[in-house]
Amino acid sequence: MDRNLALEFVRITEAASLACSHLTGRGDSHAADQAAVDAMRKAFDHLSIDGTIVIGEGERDEAPMLYIGEKVGIAGSGAPKVDIALDPLEGTSICASGGVGALSVIAVAEQGNFLHAPDTYMDKIAVGPEAKGAISLEATPEENIEAVAKALNKNAENVTVVILDRPRHEELIQRVRKVGSRILLIGDGDVSAGVATSWRKTGIDMLLGIGGAPEGVITAAALKCLGGDFYGKLRWRSDEERERALTMGVEDPDKIYSMEELAQGDVMFVATGVTDGPLLKGVRYMSGSRVLTESVVMRSKSGTIRFIESEHDLSKKPSTFAGSSLT
Ligand code: FBP
Repeated sequence: MDRNLALEFVRITEAASLACSHLTGRGDSHAADQAAVDAMRKAFDHLSIDGTIVIGEGERDEAPMLYIGEKVGIAGSGAPKVDIALDPLEGTSICASGGVGALSVIAVAEQGNFLHAPDTYMDKIAVGPEAKGAISLEATPEENIEAVAKALNKNAENVTVVILDRPRHEELIQRVRKVGSRILLIGDGDVSAGVATSWRKTGIDMLLGIGGAPEGVITAAALKCLGGDFYGKLRWRSDEERERALTMGVEDPDKIYSMEELAQGDVMFVATGVTDGPLLKGVRYMSGSRVLTESVVMRSKSGTIRFIESEHDLSKKPSTFAGSSLT
């Protein structure tokens, strides 16, 4: 994959972030998501790729834009064929409540290299580079924490675990508390939290628990670029969902996927902050029409992590940003 492509993708996550950021804290997660989706979809029309969305806003009948299977980009001759896993606004409720860690994200791989994860749940475990190889979804949470503590040369009490604050995690939370580890309970946004395990100085060592399966593939792509580790197992919400997945090509519904199986080959990960989080600063409105965004671009091939701070002039942007108040 052409390395310059990664920088082109930043324009797209920036556009989505800018479009939804003026809805920060306005209590309307649907409107925020819609703004990000519209802007991201439009921005793809300027990119010379032959792209197929494999993780997107849902299936075609439920998502008019950025749906699974949608072709994006200007697919002229020589345009690279890529598969795209995206979330124009990861953390819709975070944005709507002005919380921590909403992002606009895109992961890119060569055709056929992302798991086409159905829109269900995934049991996830994520760690940073120092604990790579120490974790397993077949092990208990207690065993995983001990293994991570050993890898990080610290006591289990000093291991910090992020868990989505959900009733389904009650037992998991009790078990981690019994081990004595520190827990950060988050309301939403397990992509940001998962990536934070491999991000310097966040103090986050592990992500445990069940979140969205599409988000799992995106997290795996990012951790591959950062040298971290990730395993995921699809968790079906019903027998019907499981049966349907079998007819749609999921061969083993109980398989544990490694990071490599979720995101094969060379991958890129691009994200722009919407609200401040452990990875990136959110969109900041300066004086007049000037706005700052912070993004990261990573490639698994080179291992380079590139931060991009952009200063935009909204008065020169298309009407996508018309909702932004400039006064
Ligand atoms: P959205 O951006 O689609 O709202 O997802 C937010 C999120 O918290 C993800 O980060 C996470 O994987 C998933 O929702 C968890 O799902 P649920 O809210 O159903 O527990």
